[in-house]
Amino acid sequence: MKAVSIYSYGGPDVLVYEDAPQPQAGVGEVLVRVHAAGINPVDWKIREGHLKDMIKHTLPLVLGWDVSGVVEAIGPGVTRLKVGDEVFSRPDIARNGAYAEYIVIRENEVALKPKNLDHVRSAALPLAGLTAWQTLFDAGGLTTGQRVLIHGAAGGVGHLAVQLAKWKGAQIIGTASDKNHDFLRELGVDQVVAYQTVRFEEVVQPVDVVLDTMGGEIQLRSWKVLKRGGILVSIVAPPSPEIAAAYGARAAFVFTQPHAAQLAELAQLVETEKIKVIVETILPLADAARGQQQGERGHTRGKIVLRVI
Ligand SMILES: NC(=O)c1ccc[n+]([C@@H]2O[C@H](COP(=O)([O-])OP(=O)(O)OC[C@H]3O[C@@H](n4cnc5c(N)ncnc54)[C@H](OP(=O)(O)O)[C@@H]3O)[C@@H](O)[C@H]2O)c1
Repeated sequence: MKAVSIYSYGGPDVLVYEDAPQPQAGVGEVLVRVHAAGINPVDWKIREGHLKDMIKHTLPLVLGWDVSGVVEAIGPGVTRLKVGDEVFSRPDIARNGAYAEYIVIRENEVALKPKNLDHVRSAALPLAGLTAWQTLFDAGGLTTGQRVLIHGAAGGVGHLAVQLAKWKGAQIIGTASDKNHDFLRELGVDQVVAYQTVRFEEVVQPVDVVLDTMGGEIQLRSWKVLKRGGILVSIVAPPSPEIAAAYGARAAFVFTQPHAAQLAELAQLVETEKIKVIVETILPLADAARGQQQGERGHTRGKIVLRVI
């Protein structure tokens, strides 16, 4: 099969589009014919070796942990899925990924994809959608009527977090550059903050939850807009419990986990038109390096996806 692998850590030039052995489904696993693979920042963080102390990969490694495709074969013990099912997944990041024509995934990491969404858009949903769900609801406990500040609201995670928060009945403040303001209002953001010209802490009234997709000084300034008892949830850098305590607030760090049941909930929200998936760019598998370079510039609206077939 064709796949995009790395044999060493480094820049986009370490990505190799090549013939690779087709994997076989083992016990409790399914073999998926990949139709599309989403690109995420974790792909280039792993490519560059930034996560090598945290995740023990053996090289060569196929990148890409967002997939939509069709079940081609099932391993022993698989009961929920069958050959021909149209599925999507955020598979285990410690294993070979989805920049390939085939991927083997554990059954409990796979759900049926949304019926009204093509494979390209379905492949854009799992990682960012699960991240939004696990940060806002599992860690942040966001409920109806609460206020949430979402940094990077037009990005992969952000645009889905906005819509999930809206569905939950929260009031949403989102940061973005000017070109994304109308886009965010259409998605349901109540207050858009132009982060390039306005300091958000000067215009945002206290919030219950901050979703930090940026880290650094944006995370540090975010404490100032949290209510006492509120929570800052970061997906980029563990927030300091000491600083949280000084503000009478709480802190959490989320590293997104595979979750078939949450994927099924996301699929249902797409099918009932509560959330939509925005894909900015579609590229062929062979152009994975170009897709990563574009993503690394940090201004994607929604997602970048590789079309495999
Ligand atoms: N811990 C986890 O499990 C986990 C999971 C998913 C993602 N992440 C991390 O979370 C981060 C975001 O991921 P993503 O997929 O959403 O990335 P992304 O799609 O590349 O985010 C791009 C967005 O960020 C916005 N942006 C850039 N600079 C900004 C700033 N200073 N203030 C506000 N917005 C800004 C851009 O908006 P403009 O074009 O309007 O500037 C763009 O829409 C990445 O670092 C990723 O690795 C972690």
